[in-house]
Amino acid sequence: MLGLLHPTSPAWIDAVEADLETMLQDHAQCELKAAHSALSLVGRYGGDHPAMVEPLVALAQEETEHVGQVTKRLTDRGQSLGAPTTDTYVRRLARAARAEHHDGYPPLLDRLLVAALVEGRSCERFRLLSDGLSDAALRSFYRELMGSEARHFALFSRLASDAFGVEDTRARLATLATREGEIASSLPLSPQVHG
Ligand SMILES: [Fe+2]
Ligand SMILES: [Fe+2]
Repeated sequence: MLGLLHPTSPAWIDAVEADLETMLQDHAQCELKAAHSALSLVGRYGGDHPAMVEPLVALAQEETEHVGQVTKRLTDRGQSLGAPTTDTYVRRLARAARAEHHDGYPPLLDRLLVAALVEGRSCERFRLLSDGLSDAALRSFYRELMGSEARHFALFSRLASDAFGVEDTRARLATLATREGEIASSLPLSPQVHG
């Protein structure tokens, strides 16, 4: 599903249920990073790729709304946003893409495809939450967000294909999806969106 080669263990839900607040705090930070990253793509590449500006600005707005929605669920539980977290998964995936630059793919293609895979993994995790959490309200919240992440995966894939062609996009996505699967399967299960 969504470019993912390694399915998350169903035991991840147990790690989340054991520390829901930590997962929600990490999730809020993930949404912040997603909004920030979309705007950073606009700032860095919007001049050369004007067709990307509007969809990425709209994406940043949607991710910002998600920050508010997750934060509200934290405050409803008497929790706060918490400190910024390091997303080891995203960091390692971006590093893996950079390490293979010698094969000639442009940095923007990698940025878009790494973003697509991160959205795809988030979608998969949110599906697990929407099926497995004991809190019914949170289950429906994550069902809704799962749909957003699937659309975001499609958006980043389309932006990549439009700018760099279907063939190159497909080939590079296949390589990066392999790296993504290796990284996701090597991380210990923890109460984090990508942990
Ligand atoms: Fe989001
Ligand atoms: Fe997203």
